[in-house]
Amino acid sequence: MITEKIERLLNDAAKKIGLSDSLTVSFSNMPKLCDFQCNDCFKLAKTAGMAPLELAGKIVANIEKDSDFCFEAVKPAFINIKLTDQGFEKLGQTILNSENCGLEKHKNGQRVILDYGGANIAKTLHVGHLRPAIIGEAIKRLYQQLGDSVISDVHLGDWGLQLGLTELQLFEDGVLDFYFGKSDKPAEITLEMLNEAYPKASARSKVDDVFREKAEEWTLKIQKKEQPYFDIYKKIKDASVPKIRANYQALGAQFDEWYGESDSSDYVDEAIAIIEKKGLLHESDGAMVVDVATENENIPLPKSNPQEPQRYKNPMPPAIIKKSNGAVLYATTDIATILMRNKLHDNPDRIEYITDQRQAMHFTQVFRVCKLSGISPENQQLLHIGHGTMNGKDGKPFKTREGGTLKLEDMINLLIEKAGEKLKSNGQEFDRDLALKIGVAAMKFGDLINNVGKDYVFDLDKFLSFEGKTGPYLQYTAVRINSILAKVENVKEGQFKVYSDDERDILRAAVRQLSSYEVCYKEKSLAALCASTFDLASAFSTFYNNHSVIGETDEEKKSSFVQLLKMVKKLLAQALHVLAIEVPEKM
Ligand code: ARG
Repeated sequence: MITEKIERLLNDAAKKIGLSDSLTVSFSNMPKLCDFQCNDCFKLAKTAGMAPLELAGKIVANIEKDSDFCFEAVKPAFINIKLTDQGFEKLGQTILNSENCGLEKHKNGQRVILDYGGANIAKTLHVGHLRPAIIGEAIKRLYQQLGDSVISDVHLGDWGLQLGLTELQLFEDGVLDFYFGKSDKPAEITLEMLNEAYPKASARSKVDDVFREKAEEWTLKIQKKEQPYFDIYKKIKDASVPKIRANYQALGAQFDEWYGESDSSDYVDEAIAIIEKKGLLHESDGAMVVDVATENENIPLPKSNPQEPQRYKNPMPPAIIKKSNGAVLYATTDIATILMRNKLHDNPDRIEYITDQRQAMHFTQVFRVCKLSGISPENQQLLHIGHGTMNGKDGKPFKTREGGTLKLEDMINLLIEKAGEKLKSNGQEFDRDLALKIGVAAMKFGDLINNVGKDYVFDLDKFLSFEGKTGPYLQYTAVRINSILAKVENVKEGQFKVYSDDERDILRAAVRQLSSYEVCYKEKSLAALCASTFDLASAFSTFYNNHSVIGETDEEKKSSFVQLLKMVKKLLAQALHVLAIEVPEKM
């Protein structure tokens, strides 16, 4: 990358004057003055035995001539670096001619498993599963873009209490008579039945202990693969999964693997044996647990009266591996899944999870058990990327107008409806596919522009605007470029040249955009790429407002403009691919 080349030039010069420390450059704080700056002369002045400004001047005087850049030492002691027009033009050529617009892949790409689906069978997929799908898909593509090889796994929630609850409810509603020999008419289990049964059972289990205990027994029977419980379970899964697939597809979340918690069941015994062999497992109230707290956790807090239950500073409860009735829990399936992944994928370098940050403690427990027991080898990185909440305009977690949880399907329909209205108000015909593409882009960009850990307000009207920092604005920019390019197809391919500051600004934005990929990689968040891509698109808009590409009469200039458009198109396409935002044919 360009900054590395500048650093090389600076460091060669520093070496010439006997400095051994290395200098770094950053983007300029004052883009009007220069493109990059080096601020290191202040701290290096002492070792160099010079005043800071003098040092800056010495370094600049010793820089090998390079016609791409122009270096200048300025008060108080900065080195300002500008790209020359030749430097800008070379940059443009690199973007045009290299596969990834000049973005370099990491030399040691890692093998990563990314777990970001988490839809639960028998329960309806709801907006709570939006953020992991959006963020996960983009993080996966970002990692791939930078050279990691990534396997995405949906990790369906398909082995928990919700199944016992649902089956028991269906049983009580008489739907399962056939399976229990009480009827000879096989009854189908439909999605509608599930949508009704689970909420009913869940509400009941909160007030009816007997019902809940029974549901726990049923869950255990499913986990032990007893009949007919296990067969019914499979029917429930078959009824749920197609819908889950369709929802993820509408969102553009693509999973390489469609495993669920249940697939870890073959690894549970082995995982427990490993944990036990390490002497980590002990009994607590009939359950099997592993203590995972460190010294500065679980510090008892003083009680104000003896009856009060004990509370702790930095609480870190033990990980429960098996319940007293023998059932496995969320932590167990996650631990066994790590064992499974390590076996099936030969110990990937990293396993990362994207879920609501409220699951942070769960993942800390799981990771610690895996590290303590050796299920996860020492050099494997386990990471939880916790996301914030999607809130309504009232600042509280997003709900339906009636105060319930919004189904993901209803959300997708809402996106289509609202984007459709937007198209109509722009004088276009309603087109469902197009509306879906725009709606999904609006939602994704509105989400990804925020740091992953931050809560944000879901404001669809704002997100859908064709102007401003939005997904549709980026789509619109790409569509516009494509339509201009279609009109200048027979312009002769020529040299890319810089004619005005408008082109320089586009290229400045391009360098920043390209460098934002690494920022995102480090931050595990797409916010920087969203912001820099928007800046690139606005730089393009300024150029577009000031110049006519199609109407340009100077052939050489016109040809150069076409190159510029191709460049922006490529940069936009690369970013939109990573953000998993599709570019429509027209808009
Ligand atoms: N099914 C879980 C939920 O709905 C999310 C699963 C996330 N992945 C994991 N390996 N635990 O909360």
